Amino acid sequence: MSHEDFPTDSPAVVTCGLPYANGDLHIGHLRTYVGGDVYARALRKLGQQTAFVSGSDMHGTPVAVNAEQAGVTPEEFALSYHERYAETFPKFNVEFDNYGHTHDETNTAVTTDIVSRLVEGGHVYEKEIKVAFDPVEEQPLPDRYVEGTCPYCGEHARGDECDEGCGRHLEPGEIEDPTSTLTGNPAEYRDRVHKFFRVSDFQEYLQSFIGRLEGTSNARNQPREWIEGELKDWCITRDLDWGIDYPEADTDLVLYVWVDAPIEYISSTRQYTERVGADEYDWEDVWKVDGEIVHVIGRDIIQHHTVFWPAMLHGADFNEPRAVMASGFITLNGKGFSTSRDRAVWADEYLDEGFHPDPLRYYLATNGGFQQDVDFSWDRFRERVNNELVGTVGNFLYRSLLFAYREFGGTPDAELSGEVRERIDEAVDDFRAGVNDYSIRQAGNAAVRLAGFGNEYIQRHEPWKLADDDPEKAQVIRDCVQIAKAVGVLFEPIAPDAMERLWASLSEPDSVHDAELAAALAPPADEFGEPTELFEKIPDERVEELNEKLQARVEEAEAADADDATEAGDDADAPVADLEPLADERISFDEFQDLDIRVGRVLAAEGIEGADKLARLEVDIGVEQRQVVAGIKQLHDLDALVGERVVILANLEKAELFGVESNGMLLAAGEEADLLTTLGDAVPGEKVR
Ligand code: 2FM
Ligand code: ZN
Repeated sequence: MSHEDFPTDSPAVVTCGLPYANGDLHIGHLRTYVGGDVYARALRKLGQQTAFVSGSDMHGTPVAVNAEQAGVTPEEFALSYHERYAETFPKFNVEFDNYGHTHDETNTAVTTDIVSRLVEGGHVYEKEIKVAFDPVEEQPLPDRYVEGTCPYCGEHARGDECDEGCGRHLEPGEIEDPTSTLTGNPAEYRDRVHKFFRVSDFQEYLQSFIGRLEGTSNARNQPREWIEGELKDWCITRDLDWGIDYPEADTDLVLYVWVDAPIEYISSTRQYTERVGADEYDWEDVWKVDGEIVHVIGRDIIQHHTVFWPAMLHGADFNEPRAVMASGFITLNGKGFSTSRDRAVWADEYLDEGFHPDPLRYYLATNGGFQQDVDFSWDRFRERVNNELVGTVGNFLYRSLLFAYREFGGTPDAELSGEVRERIDEAVDDFRAGVNDYSIRQAGNAAVRLAGFGNEYIQRHEPWKLADDDPEKAQVIRDCVQIAKAVGVLFEPIAPDAMERLWASLSEPDSVHDAELAAALAPPADEFGEPTELFEKIPDERVEELNEKLQARVEEAEAADADDATEAGDDADAPVADLEPLADERISFDEFQDLDIRVGRVLAAEGIEGADKLARLEVDIGVEQRQVVAGIKQLHDLDALVGERVVILANLEKAELFGVESNGMLLAAGEEADLLTTLGDAVPGEKVR
């Protein structure tokens, strides 16, 4: 069964993945929220009734751990970030119809209802499992309170996900060699009774669901492997104080954060209905009858949205998502964002530098396909703003409307030409197709291409050379005003504020936010005033200044890290909680000799498509050339590694990571994967002894 194209007669809801309420927002985070906002606005342009909702993710160990470090309760901690987010999004014209949070009454009630329905439906059972415990603190270690080795790929893993290796969700008890992140102590596994959601009940359903699911191809294809294979049941409770209580009187368990987080999509929609009334927008129609549910998320949480979440919805008798749009990641000057090292362009910082939100929205929405990884740099930002926003869109709108105002005081009295009508129709079709293909880039570029055509059209006809009474002059300008109006309609999702100003310049009586696609060809006002320029050029010096500021900040943060490390080293009493305790057991020299460790030289290094952290390296180890996969994609400038001397464990058994064979292990120290090399000039192939 395929879905009817948008617009449909059913109400739609566009949701954005909930940000954990535990840190400042940077422009990498904004990609999802801008993407969701653009998509919701674009649906409305098609005449689709649409609500746009999200909320803050208040629960879970990421919040509990950070609150503990900050010395406040998780509730105080999360609420203060929630309030900041609620203020920040509108500054980027990300206008949610409702922005709630997972700890409020509505979400507690809806979550309790859904989990109770799953229990009543026989989809939840109890099982004794091994749970990590800190033996010194005598407390259970759920999720982020424990770290160790991923049982699937052998990489370092934290809590409930293998975030440095294969990206899998990890169930409690799965991490190998667990240590407590509270104290650094080796953790013990102890028996505890927990609740499990029987995902396997839904295998057949999920197999048919995935065939219907629309959205970006990563979200439609990636889950097939999980859904076709053995579906593991999902532990839905945790030993924590912070969360929504499991709905059963005699248990002190809370629900796993990933249960109540997506339910906030429903709760937030319900709060919207409570505000505007069910006659205007009915959350129950959407979630229980026939709504068009579109989830916009980062690609690291595809599994939750295409396996666990639709199974929960189905088991509790709710509607299924129509589409999942999963964005790629964003890097900064080719490297990963690092919030701890201040390697980020912060949302507030962007605004404090005096930039308008629309250029960033344009960059984030159209710099690559939504599912592709994109890089942000101030240089590229300037280039795109100056060439495309100012050079193409702004230039066309300003010059044509200024000409119309000066020569005609508004729209000349002439018929729209067939050529321009057709070209606008084509742009509208392109926009509509973009929305139906879940491509905000295509929808956004429809307007830019139309403005490009406008520039070419005005240049081709050179109206400034025509006599005032030449009907061609009126004709050309009439056409250009129509193109400008159409650009206003089609570009509103990307640049809502600039297009509202354009709308005012055109003396349009209503808001461009409410204009639908038909307005692109509706006659413009006869009279309008002098236009203003809509986008500003960014001078080269500004970019240099911004690059220098960023660089200085990163260096300062790195120096502070280094100082902290030195101070810790100098002070014998300083806590060394971050360092792993020394191994108790000794190995024999023979056992060490079994390790074939070699000097190598990097011949090539590149990121593995689709993997956030993994890179593929070709390494010359003298005797032969090896392909090695390492979790260093975001931690090193891969191009700069070529030619460097590295150290390889050559006789490790082969492994396959993200479908790429790894024949050996690159040795590195610490969280930042500081690569081991040699002090002298050992040649590739030399054995390390
Ligand atoms: O990964 C995250 O940042 C989660 N806070 C996303 C939750 S999205 C949803 F399902 F609620
Ligand atoms: Zn893994």
